[in-house]
Amino acid sequence: MIDRAARTFFHLLAQSSALKKLASRYGMRRPTSFARRFIAGETVGEAIDAARRLEAKHLHLTLDLLGESVTSIDSAASATREYLDVIDAVIASGIERGISLKLTQLGLDVDKATAVDNLRKILEPAEPAGFFVRIDMENSPYTDVTLEIFETLWQQGYRQIGVVLQSALLRSERDLARMAALGAPVRLVKGAYKEPKSVAYQRKSEVDAAYRRMVKAMLTGGHYPAIATHDPAMIRFTQDFARDHHVSADKFEFQMLYGIRRDLQTSLVKDGHRVRVYVPFGREWFPYFMRRLAERPANVGFVVRGILSESG
Ligand code: FDA
Repeated sequence: MIDRAARTFFHLLAQSSALKKLASRYGMRRPTSFARRFIAGETVGEAIDAARRLEAKHLHLTLDLLGESVTSIDSAASATREYLDVIDAVIASGIERGISLKLTQLGLDVDKATAVDNLRKILEPAEPAGFFVRIDMENSPYTDVTLEIFETLWQQGYRQIGVVLQSALLRSERDLARMAALGAPVRLVKGAYKEPKSVAYQRKSEVDAAYRRMVKAMLTGGHYPAIATHDPAMIRFTQDFARDHHVSADKFEFQMLYGIRRDLQTSLVKDGHRVRVYVPFGREWFPYFMRRLAERPANVGFVVRGILSESG
């Protein structure tokens, strides 16, 4: 109960422009600043450095240039150009070629055509260069349109793309069947957004039960599923189910967020699993950061300590 209230509180705080200003001022300015625990840096160079450190530990990666909810054609075009620069920088650096992006960052709130055009502009150089492009899933008003755009591009022959489904949503098991029929790779997450009970499970036990059902479906009928979670119970369930059903470790991967459960990331690699780390970076880190706090209010302690020591 307390946990639910805390989550609501952080989702509300995420709307605060005063807090955004304060956090943006102190959160990233030094190598030890508090936001750097979850965000690799503000520049692509910093993200590439972080990626190299992960690769040295045999971890895979997907880079996410943070940004969402742009409201003008110009800002969507500039986010697209920034992604094209990221692609060039990744190619030049020699790190693994993987990116994750959000459709509202590419103009989905302006209109669907703008987002599709911008996504195609990114896929045109990315696909032949061997990038895998994951389209993140945003909150439930965007589920339908995100899946529609994904299906359109898939039908146009793009194959180096994947989508995300959230076990919290009541609809997701149906969406999973639809994606499996297409042959599309799915990243399974619990869901980072506060959703109403008309569309989403409200209890953690229900979200977890749906997550387990979806893991089973993905390991038996999916296409290189990505099991994205830090939850040891979900990870153990996946390992046990895979072992009992003779699904070898190269048929799926685990994914985790930068800075979260680093111990678990490396121990899974030691056990022979492929683990991909989602590496967020960029100036627009505040909403992403607040979602991480909402997931684990205990993290607020180190943020408060960080602000006090930075401003003191
Ligand atoms: P849960 O929240 O139940 O936590 C289980 C345990 O994990 C905790 O007890 C703790 O040990 C650890 N943990 C979890 N969060 C932590 C934190 N912030 N700090 C420290 N420890 C923490 N969501 C979405 O809606 N759309 C998307 O596209 C994506 N994409 C995505 C990619 C990847 C690679 C990951 C790992 C996650 C996402 N998510 C996402 C986020 C996801 O929906 C979810 O909010 C978080 O992963 C937290 O849920 P867990 O499954 O980790 O379990």
